[in-house]
Amino acid sequence: MYNPALHQQINTILRKQKIDIAGKDNAFYVRMMANADHIQTLYTEIYAEHPRAGKAFEQLIEGITKVYLARPQSMRDKDEQKERKGYWYLGNDIAGMSLYVDRFCGNLANLPAKLDYFENLGVNFLHLMPIFESPAEASDGGYAVSNFRKVDERFGTLDDLVNLRKHMDEKAMYLMVDIVLNHTSNQHQWAERAKEGNAEYQDYFYMFDSREIPDEFERSMFEIFPESSPGNFTWVPECNKWVMTVFHHYQWDLNYTNPAVFVAMLDNVLFYANLGVDVLRIDAPAFIWKQMGTNCQNLPKAHTLLRLIKQCVMVAAPGMAILGEAIVAPKDILKYFGTGAYTARECDFAYNATQMALQWDMLATGDTRVMLAAQYLILQKPFGTSWITYTRCHDDIGLAYDDDMIRQAGYNSYDHRKFLQDYYSGKYPDSPATGALFSSNPKNGDARISGSLASLCGLEKALAEKNKKTIDTAISKILLMQAHSFFLGGVPMLFYGDEAGYTNDYSFLDDPAKSYDNRWMHRPVIDWKKNERIHKKGTVEHRIFSATQKLLAIRKKLAVIADYKNLTWLNPYNIHVAGYLRTFEDQAFFGVYNFSNKTAYLTWAAFKEHGINPEKLYCHWTEKEFITGGNADFLVLEPYGFHLLEVIA
Ligand code: GLC
Ligand code: GLC
Repeated sequence: MYNPALHQQINTILRKQKIDIAGKDNAFYVRMMANADHIQTLYTEIYAEHPRAGKAFEQLIEGITKVYLARPQSMRDKDEQKERKGYWYLGNDIAGMSLYVDRFCGNLANLPAKLDYFENLGVNFLHLMPIFESPAEASDGGYAVSNFRKVDERFGTLDDLVNLRKHMDEKAMYLMVDIVLNHTSNQHQWAERAKEGNAEYQDYFYMFDSREIPDEFERSMFEIFPESSPGNFTWVPECNKWVMTVFHHYQWDLNYTNPAVFVAMLDNVLFYANLGVDVLRIDAPAFIWKQMGTNCQNLPKAHTLLRLIKQCVMVAAPGMAILGEAIVAPKDILKYFGTGAYTARECDFAYNATQMALQWDMLATGDTRVMLAAQYLILQKPFGTSWITYTRCHDDIGLAYDDDMIRQAGYNSYDHRKFLQDYYSGKYPDSPATGALFSSNPKNGDARISGSLASLCGLEKALAEKNKKTIDTAISKILLMQAHSFFLGGVPMLFYGDEAGYTNDYSFLDDPAKSYDNRWMHRPVIDWKKNERIHKKGTVEHRIFSATQKLLAIRKKLAVIADYKNLTWLNPYNIHVAGYLRTFEDQAFFGVYNFSNKTAYLTWAAFKEHGINPEKLYCHWTEKEFITGGNADFLVLEPYGFHLLEVIA
C-alpha cells in the first residue's frame, strides 16, 4: 500500500545522507521505496508499543542508507549481475564446504593458498565457521561472539579476510559467514556494561532480579545442552541478576523486544554484507523471540524479525542471500522460507536437516519408508528458495523428524529412535559405527548423535581392524550418502575432512575448553601430510577424494540438478532403494540409491511412471549405458551402490 507520510519521512532521511534519488543512486532509491512499506509494517508489528520505536526506525533507515553508500562498487556490480541472472543460487554450479579456518589451515592468511585445493575438488563456495572475536575458553566453536566486527586474533585480522575475499573473487568463489543473532558472549561489551549495572545495557538481554520469571519461563522451555548447560538461565554475581542463557551459560540471549538491539544487530548483518558475503548464515533463528508460556522456539515474531532483516538486506545489499539455520521439526523448517505474502521473502535457504537425518535413518535400517513419509512436507518448499543439502556438519545429528513419519513406516517411534541411537553410538551389537550420543536427556530419552561421516559409516572400525572388505563397505556408504545428497536439489555443503575420509578426532578430550562437548570429535585438525595421500592411488584418501571430485563434476555438468522444484520421488517398488526423478526443460535424470547391505533389484516399471518412458539411460557414475527392460526386468544395484542416470533416449 502506498504510504505518503512514510515516503516523505524516507525522502528526508535520504536527502540528509545526500542520496542522488534521480541519478546514480536511483536503483537504491527504487529498492528502498519498493520495500519501505514492508519494512515499516514488519517493524511496527514488533515495536509499535515501544517508547523509543520512532527514533529507532529512523536509525534503521539511516543505517541501511549508510551501508549502501559504503558498499564498494565491485560489490554493487556483483549485486547487479546476480539480479540479472535471477535466482543465482538455485543453479547446479555451486558446491560448498564448511570449515574451521584454524583447524583447516592455521589462519586466514594461509587460506588463499588453499583455494586450488577447493577448485581441484570442485568446491566454489566456502562457509567459514565463526571467525569473529570469541573468548577462547568459552567460545562454543566461535558461536559466543564478544565482538562482531573484530576477527579473532587466532584467525588473523579483518584485512586477512578482505584479502581472502579478493583471492576468492579471482576464482569467482562464493563466501558464507555466520551472524550469531540469538546471543552474545558474556564478555561482549554490552554484557560487560550490563554486569556493571548499566540499565540501558541490561535491557539488551533478558535479565531478572529473582527466580520468579525465570521459573515461569522454565516451565515450558526445553534444554538445548542438558548435560553441559542445564536450564535456561544463569546467575550473574556482578549485578546480582539472572540472565537468560538458552545455549551455554556464557551465551547471553539478546532481547529483541528492545528496538536498539534490532538496529544494532541489523547493522552487524549489513557490515558482513559489505565484506562481500554472498550467503549469510543466521545462526539459531528459531530462538530469537521469547514468550513466556511457550517453548520459545519458532514463534511468529521470530519470523517477523527474519522478514524484516530480509527486506532490509534486499534494499542495502540485494546480492546477499540468507540462510536460516533452523534445525527444527520438518513442518517448522518450511516456515523459514516465509508464508503468505512473505512466501520466498524470508530466508532464501534453510538446511535440509530433515533429509540429512533421514539419510542416516536409511543407512542404519536399509529401509527408505520413514524418509518417504517425510517428503510430502519437504517438497512444499516454495519456488525461488533452496536447501543446503549435507550429510554432516559441525553439529550433532538430531533425529528431529516426526513420530508420525516413523509410525507410518510401521515402526514404534520410541524403539526406532533408540535403535538409531544405539546403532550410531556403536552400542548395537552388529553396528560398525563409532559415534557417540550428544546431549542425552534422561528426562525424556532424547539424544542426538556425534561422529564424523567416515566413523559413522564404519571406516574407523574397519581401519582399526585392517579389514579390506569392511573398508570397502565403509567407503561405499560414504559415497552413497554424498551422492544421495549432492543430486537432491539444493546447494551441497561438504564438511571439511569428509572429502579425505577423516575419522573421529579424540584430542578434544584433553582440552578443558572442549572436553564437555563431544561435537568436537567430528571437527578434525587437518593433517596436510595425510591429505597428500589424496594423490596416491589406492589409498583410502585417494579413493574418497577422487570419487567426491567425480560426483561434484557430474553434478556441475547436469543443468537438471538445479533446484527448480523439479524433483519427484519414485514409487518404492523396492523399499531399500531411494529413487528420485529430476526434470528440467528436455533433460531427465534418475538418481537411485541402494541403502541396504544386499544387492537390490529395481523393476524398470519404476522408471516408466510420471510421464517419462525412457529407453536408454546413461549412468554418469558407472559410465555404463542401460537399455530399459520390461516390468519383470530389473536394474541391479550393488550393496550400498547407486546409479546417476541421465535419460538419453
Ligand atoms: C547453532 C550452531 C551451534 C551452536 C548453536 C549456538 O546451532 O550451529 O554450533 O552451538 O547455534 O550458537
Ligand atoms: C539445538 C539447535 C540447533 C543446533 C544444536 C547445536 O539443537 O536447535 O540449531 O544445531 O542445538 O547442537
